[in-house]
Amino acid sequence: MSVQAPIKRLTAPDIAAKKGVEPIVSLTAYHAHTAAIADKYCDFLLVGDSLGMVMHGYETTVPVPLELMIMHGRAVTRGARRALVVVDMPFGSYEESPQVAFRNAARVMKETDCGAIKLEGGTRMAETIRYLVDRGIPVMAHIGLTPQSINVLGGFKAQGRSQDQWAALEADAIAVAEAGAFSVVLEAIAEPLAARISKAIGIPTIGIGASSACDGQILVMEDMLGLSPRVPKFVKEFGKVGALIESAIKGYADEVKARTFPAAEHTYAMRAESGTAAPATSKGGVAKKP
Ligand code: KIV
Repeated sequence: MSVQAPIKRLTAPDIAAKKGVEPIVSLTAYHAHTAAIADKYCDFLLVGDSLGMVMHGYETTVPVPLELMIMHGRAVTRGARRALVVVDMPFGSYEESPQVAFRNAARVMKETDCGAIKLEGGTRMAETIRYLVDRGIPVMAHIGLTPQSINVLGGFKAQGRSQDQWAALEADAIAVAEAGAFSVVLEAIAEPLAARISKAIGIPTIGIGASSACDGQILVMEDMLGLSPRVPKFVKEFGKVGALIESAIKGYADEVKARTFPAAEHTYAMRAESGTAAPATSKGGVAKKP
């Protein structure tokens, strides 16, 4: 038995059990300090591969490597004590075969201490989802607008806005639920279809641009904080953190130029020693004795 006090985070079954009971709250998180704040309010935190775009400046999520997901996953599990932490499998790390998916997902779980992984795809990924779940890896699925397939989809487009797309999307949702996923993200799906899918399957639907008909919601944290320069229609900015950061940095730059920062209260004086005290240098250090 471990000698350390246990961290008791919510589990994948805890999240699944919330369907029909209460709305599920979630956000993406990529680093320890913001994860610690979001942990107080969220049921799960997703270390999404959107980190490639919002933190590392990539145009899409396609180039994101597994190592980057593991590094940010570790940071988030260091910050979160209560919420389930879910780590996204990046493009190229799971599609090839259930065996490759298991090897990489097991590595993510061992090296990050997360409680579940997420992967994109519906019917085509059902066999892999079943394989992972049977071997101890909880899986969150992701259907609708799947950003890793951007080069096939031809752009970040809402899904299910014409009825001829409905059957395939509904079949995707049913396939991942039957394969054992504990929940499914519906991204950019027209409201009536999101409502229909949420009624049709027994696992929670987590909406991002898929209306309040879903069992829970997720947003990319930087988008909802007002830190991202461009956001999709479905994002509501709950804060203006970008503007706050800019005004703080401008204030700092102005004070450095005006030499009003650092002031006396930010500067170290000498400790009173027996006899003479050497004057502080302009950097607050100790002046060398002649
Ligand atoms: O990577 C991500 O942030 C996601 C969300 C959009 C659900 O997958």
